[in-house]
Amino acid sequence: MLTGKNILLIISGGIAAYKVLEVIRRLRDQGASIRAILTQGGAEFVTPLSVAALTENKVYQDIFSLTDEAEMGHIRLSREADLVLVAPASADILAKMAAGMANDLATTALLATNKPVLVAPTMNVEMWNNPATRANIATLESRGILRIGPAGGDLACGETGTGRLAEPAEIIAAVQDFFARQDGPKPLVGKKAVVTSGPTHEPIDPVRYIANRSSGKQGHAIAAELARAGADVTLVSGPVNLPDPVGVNVVRVETARDMLASVQAHMPADIAIFAAAVADWRIKDQAGQKIKKAGDGALPVLQFAENPDILATISQSGPLRPALVVGFAAETENVVDHARAKRARKGCDWILANNVAPDSGTFGGEDNEIHLIAGNDVQSDELWPKQSKIAVARTLVSRIARHFDT
Ligand code: CTP
Repeated sequence: MLTGKNILLIISGGIAAYKVLEVIRRLRDQGASIRAILTQGGAEFVTPLSVAALTENKVYQDIFSLTDEAEMGHIRLSREADLVLVAPASADILAKMAAGMANDLATTALLATNKPVLVAPTMNVEMWNNPATRANIATLESRGILRIGPAGGDLACGETGTGRLAEPAEIIAAVQDFFARQDGPKPLVGKKAVVTSGPTHEPIDPVRYIANRSSGKQGHAIAAELARAGADVTLVSGPVNLPDPVGVNVVRVETARDMLASVQAHMPADIAIFAAAVADWRIKDQAGQKIKKAGDGALPVLQFAENPDILATISQSGPLRPALVVGFAAETENVVDHARAKRARKGCDWILANNVAPDSGTFGGEDNEIHLIAGNDVQSDELWPKQSKIAVARTLVSRIARHFDT
């Protein structure tokens, strides 16, 4: 299954490092070639000799080794792989990756690589739960780094909880899944898609604006997944702190009116997905200069004007209407009923309804629970259980592929 695949394996320090020898053996059994980098910590747990024997390749350990650099420079080492696998990935190496450090061969190769990276973390449960590790994982995932594990259970340190290295079979399955997705069918080749994402900023004056808490994670994940399925994707994004998804044409806008203009400029399209949290209102008369305090205690009064509804405009755009128009419905109560009414009112084909009540953690969070409403018919509702926004994007894109296939 992995014949011809080159994997750069980075072994960092951790009591579970011994399991990686089994991972090497199984990857080799499937036909993969492996070059390994052993960190100083990793070498405390497995010997270079056992890694070299199993990979049947030289093991790289030192960034300042003249022989290594002459034979295979660290840049080439990181570029010649089809996949970089960090197993086990310690809290330390994850932190260095998140910070962009490059103070040994492993971290330098990770910073220099332009290839996909899969990490298999392992650490003590409190280290895993520490806000620093949580933030590092979120940062790495927002950059597209793939992760397998850690699992829950008894830990080597005697404590119980999340932190065990994924089993070798699970790590192999994750590697296979990566290659299957990368090399797998591209059901949306030839389809043009436009996706909106993020909030909009509506200026009050040159220095102030109205915004909302949308992070753009869901829209960006959808754009990335559509591109992976072979679609030609344009992502029209409001201001977000996210990297551009790989293989996607990104247009940055600020206001709802700019977002509509950009979406219209990218029509016709086959698929349009509106995941942006567009501001419903803008300030009617934006001040040309910064509004100053009156001095006498008088307060400024802001008058609103309604913004164009991008989803409704495109859903009702006649001959230019994309074949499939999908909207979201952010609701805090009666989710399905409100979303069904919203679908009919706006005229889109599908609505993905999600609960954005403050206790749901949806806005800005990692997870999303979705009802797909594809008609007025009750049976056409589908409830997708709470899953990551990336998983929601995958489910949606495979649903879209099925839609165009039938
Ligand atoms: N939407 C849009 N343009 C707007 C407002 C919303 O394109 N000016 C899109 C959103 O991207 C989303 C859908 O419409 O796909 C529904 O957004 P939501 O905020 O749930 O609905 P609203 O239309 O704002 O309705 P309400 O605030 O009454 O719930």
